Amino acid sequence: MKGSKCCIATIESHASVRRYTGEAIPEDDLEAVLRAAQRAPTGWNMQPVTVVAVTDRGLLAQLADIVGGQEHVAQAAAFLVFTVDYAKIVAAAEREGVRAKPGLANLYEALIDAGIMAGWAMLAAESLGYGGVLVALYENPCPIVELLGLPRYAVPAVGLALGKPAEKPRPRPRQRLEALAPRNHYGGVDDKAEAVIEAYNGKARKLFAYIFGPEGYYDTASERLRFCLEKQGFL
Ligand SMILES: Cc1cc2nc3c(=O)[nH]c(=O)nc-3n(C[C@H](O)[C@H](O)[C@H](O)COP(=O)(O)O)c2cc1C
Repeated sequence: MKGSKCCIATIESHASVRRYTGEAIPEDDLEAVLRAAQRAPTGWNMQPVTVVAVTDRGLLAQLADIVGGQEHVAQAAAFLVFTVDYAKIVAAAEREGVRAKPGLANLYEALIDAGIMAGWAMLAAESLGYGGVLVALYENPCPIVELLGLPRYAVPAVGLALGKPAEKPRPRPRQRLEALAPRNHYGGVDDKAEAVIEAYNGKARKLFAYIFGPEGYYDTASERLRFCLEKQGFL
């Protein structure tokens, strides 16, 4: 059966792929990936997510610019934009005579849903022989809102660039399992900190400085994100 390699074997060989051959993804395969997203669990079975499947080359190039010039987005055969979307839920509630105003907890819940969906879609795509990489969209969401015409109460969470792989990276290191997943008790932070440093193969200091340093990645990201969440009605 197509895709039957899923799941443990697919998970064990997972490595993000950032170079693609340029081949298109046939509609059947794209639909199979979207159906995997559709089957993902979701709080209350509410499904407050919309997946905008972008294949238009002009839009892909613009999305690549918005996310900081990530060339794999421009080169992907498809870029799936997992969008927290309460616009359709609010409209449905109103039709049923209920006034709905999504807030922080709704946003939080939907982000979990969107993340699970993106993971399932990625796994399905990998099981079909595609490669891909998740791309943070929370760093600069409002230009994407505009580009894709997203309504109020919708905000992009994470994207999935997909294509036929033109590289085969080896699975990348992770924290040791006992540090990641202690049994029954947390057991202290020291071994976990060591496990974090180890997992970055000597590059931990540089990465932390980039992310947490003065005017680091998340300072600007947090500002832009807060602005966009207010604009879209969540805060
Ligand atoms: C929420 C999230 C956001 C990510 N954002 C980006 C991104 O913007 N650009 C990128 O190249 N990779 C991104 N990644 C991919 C990670 O860098 C990658 O999963 C990690 O380095 C581990 O590598 P692996 O997936 O090959 O195991 C993201 C992954 C996640 C889960």
